[in-house]
Amino acid sequence: MATGKQPAGPVVSGKPLRALVLEDDPADFEILEHHLRAAGFRAECTRVETEAEFMAHLQPDLDVVLSDYKLAGWDAIRALELYRASCLDIPFILVSGTISEEVAVECMKRGAADYLLKDRLGRLGPAINRARNDIAEKRLSESLSSRLLKAHEEERKKVARELHDQVGGAMATLLLGLNDLDSGLPPDGPAQAQLQALKRLAEDNVAIVRNIALLLRPSMLDELGLIPALNWQAREVSRRTGMEVAVEADDACDHLPDEYRTCIYRLVQESLHNAARHAKAAQARVTVREEPGQIRVWIQDDGPGFDTRHQKGMGILGMEERVRHLGGVFHIDSKPGQGALISILLPRGRTDPATDGGS
Ligand SMILES: Nc1ncnc2c1ncn2[C@@H]1O[C@H](COP(=O)(O)OP(=O)(O)OP(=O)(O)O)[C@@H](O)[C@H]1O
Ligand SMILES: [Mg+2]
Repeated sequence: MATGKQPAGPVVSGKPLRALVLEDDPADFEILEHHLRAAGFRAECTRVETEAEFMAHLQPDLDVVLSDYKLAGWDAIRALELYRASCLDIPFILVSGTISEEVAVECMKRGAADYLLKDRLGRLGPAINRARNDIAEKRLSESLSSRLLKAHEEERKKVARELHDQVGGAMATLLLGLNDLDSGLPPDGPAQAQLQALKRLAEDNVAIVRNIALLLRPSMLDELGLIPALNWQAREVSRRTGMEVAVEADDACDHLPDEYRTCIYRLVQESLHNAARHAKAAQARVTVREEPGQIRVWIQDDGPGFDTRHQKGMGILGMEERVRHLGGVFHIDSKPGQGALISILLPRGRTDPATDGGS
């Protein structure tokens, strides 16, 4: 391993560019440093050769990883595997001697942002800038869409509260007034029959308003926790559709942070909705498990299943989006005739991008 700190060249930005360079040839490393300087970077390059060195230096404060393809005893494919597993948002650029187009495509498929040939390093600067801009844009769009999801959820909470308190409250007052009238009217007259009809209408409307408020965002999700809210949802879906729903959840999941509670609740809601509506399933099972460092959720139905490659609507895309925001993994396992199993893995301890920076 070698570290090269460059004297300031023609500086593009005030900050140095911290580059981790996977390169087993010191001469090629020097050429690379030269090209970085020529491209206007104040580069701080660290050269590594082995897997262990690579892992030791793969840190979030890096700006770019530049990797040769063929290394002593390993290659960039393995480096990309390790890089992907690290989940770091740093561009990985392949800088290699001649490699076949298939190998280059394979590296891009495995997460490389770009690839350059060693005899065409004039493209190095633009390639680094483009890859870094792409990552900055991705982060911005993730943060914006995370804020949108949050704002949407807050709005639902507000509307649910207003509906419950204002409209539900007004309907309850109306009902009380009708009850008062009841005692002043003769028991068998036509006015009494009309009053009873009005009372039934008011009672139905109280129930409808409360139910809409609950469907928008059940207050028990915030007040009692995830499991009572999931159980309520299961009962509600069974009542409306006839599909039997079983919920099995670890007690520890009850007091997850709001972003996890909301995410799991909405995933279960959409999955059960799909199972009842599209699959007409007779039974569905929801399982929520807390494991060290992660939460797993499964939603399984016994419907006819579907071809997951071709059928993706807003519902499934929305679920994928919610899971991605928490840095998790979303997977649907279904084939025609075999029911559907939705599996979700959510890592714990990730900062919500929407709350980064204290906003
Ligand atoms: N559990 C399931 N069983 C069978 N088919 C399903 C199941 N879940 C989804 N599908 C199929 O996948 C399609 C896409 O589902 P998705 O939830 O993305 O959209 P949608 O339910 O059609 O519309 P939206 O969710 O926006 O109301 C559905 O139209 C349906 O054909
Ligand atoms: Mg749907």
